Amino acid sequence: MKKFVGVQHQFHDNQCALDWANRFVPTPERLQLFDTIIQQIRETPLPAAHIVELGLGPGYLAERLLQHIPQVTYEGLDFSTPMLELAATRLAAHRSRLRFTQADLIGENWGAKISRPVGAIISTWALHDLGSEAHTGQVYQTCHRLLARGGILLNGDFVKPEGTPHDYEAGRFLVSRHLELLRDAGFRDAQCLVFLEPELENPTTAQNYACLKAVV
Ligand SMILES: C[S@@+](CC[C@H](N)C(=O)[O-])C[C@H]1O[C@@H](n2cnc3c(N)ncnc32)[C@H](O)[C@@H]1O
Repeated sequence: MKKFVGVQHQFHDNQCALDWANRFVPTPERLQLFDTIIQQIRETPLPAAHIVELGLGPGYLAERLLQHIPQVTYEGLDFSTPMLELAATRLAAHRSRLRFTQADLIGENWGAKISRPVGAIISTWALHDLGSEAHTGQVYQTCHRLLARGGILLNGDFVKPEGTPHDYEAGRFLVSRHLELLRDAGFRDAQCLVFLEPELENPTTAQNYACLKAVV
């Protein structure tokens, strides 16, 4: 039977944020996504040693990256006070290299709040929550403006798989459309590095995610 793949979160609610953090303690597949991002950061001669994460959540990716890459500073952006508090607790050991920025990726000039220069912008499982191709495209455009020349964008997010018989929420769309939006924003070398937990027939909301990369 045809199903609808999508979910509404209440990220501003303390209990919902905590429940999300407990439910989504990283699995081996999600760690593979994090490590794909970390490997790219390590291998790329970044134009600046400052990394920005969009939709930081409880700080799982940040914790792993800060443990593995000692020479960078890190800025975690989120609009949710409870998520920023969870992240601050998790990342307390890295406080000297960290900055938290509270901003809404929709309808706010969030780029003005980011410290520059920026060498890499990263994100996992977050931009689909913006709810549309247009909002994701606008975020890509701001990322392109914020990144220094040679900087990279790595977005590991839920997508709609090619050939699916199901309906997906509008924030989850095809990899090919993401690549188009990245090119439209001015990025070069837009590509999909990996597609994880592919499931066409009976997908859950935590399957079918890809790591997209693009260069300024
Ligand atoms: C599904 S969680 C993912 C958290 C984290 N990136 C991870 O992979 O564990 C999405 C995060 O994006 C944040 N978020 C969603 N919409 C946002 C918006 N419009 N502006 C800023 N942050 C947003 C939420 O508060 C939440 O922390």
